[in-house]
Amino acid sequence: MAFKKNRMKIKKICCIGAGYVGGPTMAVIALKCPEIKVTVVDIDKEKINSWNSEDLNELPVFEPGLSEVVEKTRNKNLFFSTNIKDSINEAEMIFMAVNTPTKTKGKGRGYAANLTFVENCAKEIAEFSKSDKIIVEKSTLPVRTAEKINNILKKNNKKVNFEVISNPEFLAEGTAITDLFKSDRVLIGADNTETGKVAADKLIEIYKRWIPNDKIIKTNVWSSELSKLVSNAMLAQRISSINSISALCEKTEANIDEVSKAVGLDSRIGPNFLKSSVGFGGSCFKKDILNLVYLARQYKLEEVAKFWESVVKINDYQTYRFGQKIIYLYKDHKNKTVTILGWSFKKDTNDSRESASISLANQLLEKKFNIRVYDPMVSNSRIIQDITNKLKSSKKTTKQIKRFISRLTICDNIDSALNNSNLAAVCTEWDEFKSVDWNKIFINMKNNPWVFDGRNIIDRDKLKNIGFKTFFIGQP
Ligand code: NAD
Ligand code: UGA
Repeated sequence: MAFKKNRMKIKKICCIGAGYVGGPTMAVIALKCPEIKVTVVDIDKEKINSWNSEDLNELPVFEPGLSEVVEKTRNKNLFFSTNIKDSINEAEMIFMAVNTPTKTKGKGRGYAANLTFVENCAKEIAEFSKSDKIIVEKSTLPVRTAEKINNILKKNNKKVNFEVISNPEFLAEGTAITDLFKSDRVLIGADNTETGKVAADKLIEIYKRWIPNDKIIKTNVWSSELSKLVSNAMLAQRISSINSISALCEKTEANIDEVSKAVGLDSRIGPNFLKSSVGFGGSCFKKDILNLVYLARQYKLEEVAKFWESVVKINDYQTYRFGQKIIYLYKDHKNKTVTILGWSFKKDTNDSRESASISLANQLLEKKFNIRVYDPMVSNSRIIQDITNKLKSSKKTTKQIKRFISRLTICDNIDSALNNSNLAAVCTEWDEFKSVDWNKIFINMKNNPWVFDGRNIIDRDKLKNIGFKTFFIGQP
């Protein structure tokens, strides 16, 4: 058995899932380990074609610094492929970086993680493996998923030894490459058995190339799986905490940015993740907290579940009340247009999953607003798809969806997006929005234009001097 004698040498890695995690993490591993062949596979042929596109602007994931890493490694020791079978079979180490969205059907729907993609991965690995493999959980998973993966592997392949370890990913989108180069920590959860230790050591050998030893942490598998969920929950909790206070600031003439600074200067609290906003988005915070809520309920810890559920509730409330303020302003108007600036859930990414802009657009379309959207990175088709999905989830008919979408215009620059609009709603903190010529925009917008800054990034005094009416989150 390759594990026991520690004979296994990692020469080939396979990563299943070529998304926001699989693509960037494997590109960095390939860069740091030039002698290891890294193959990233996916069932999505189009995505793999984009990863292989000669034009590096066509990569399916936009991340600062990513195209440079891909340029250096692709087709040298980094490969993107749909040949899942051979890639699994030839690799000694297999990462699972598939999506784990919230379940929409069946037991736990609306809360629990849908593990179908992970289970399918395990089945594929069992089916195609002819030699011993180290399986690395990269996806974010509920605590004790490794047990399920192990059972699937063992049931479907009795000839090969598998060792499942956990290595959750902590990168944030928009800074993925710098995060991967300089991780705060690399967490590896493995069984305290001979084979578990060998598997963990093999992964440590890889990270050791660029991550200092004291930042590589070893735990048991369950602690590792749970730490990932808790890290995201704690980060999101800070945002909801500060966002809840932003509502109080608006009533009391306190200023949330001042409060946040004062509170964050306490070294026990720290300044990060205290920036009030229109609400956090992204594919993970909400789904991971809901997953945590589900787990707590499964273990009959109702008070724990309620505590974490409130983080999501405050987030929904924050976006909703931003929209309601706009709706109230124009309650007596017939022809009203709002421009949403920014569709991605944060700057420097083309990812719009769970972005506050989607909920805001939906809320305003319901109230008969015309919506214009500008985002420097998110594609038009993505924007249409996002809003269509949102409308579908609120049970709108095809006819209604068509009618709603006819009131949505996607623009390719800020000027045209704001032309003849009543109100600019800044939803993403793109740098570009800070340097806009608001004087010029003022002239092109309708009379008495408003700027609603959901990120508090624009110079408010400057806007006021030009003649704009303004609303800033958590400010008097
Ligand atoms: P993603 O949707 O961008 O990518 C997942 C990919 O897996 C998709 O391209 C999908 O086609 C592919 N896939 C699914 N089943 C497959 C199968 N059986 N065989 C081959 N390919 C398959 O998702 P993501 O954002 O990369 O997230 C992946 C996981 O990492 C999730 O669990 C997420 O919670 C976690 N995570 C994400 C981030 C992030 O910033 N996005 C950060 C840390 C952790
Ligand atoms: C988050 C975590 O930061 C990563 O560590 C984790 O790996 C990842 O989730 C994941 O598991 O997917 P990400 O969602 O990519 O990363 O981006 P963040 O920087 O965390 O921002 C999330 C959302 O919170 C964004 O909408 C952002 O604008 C918002 N935010 C962030 C605030 O509103 N205020 C803040 O102070 C910080």
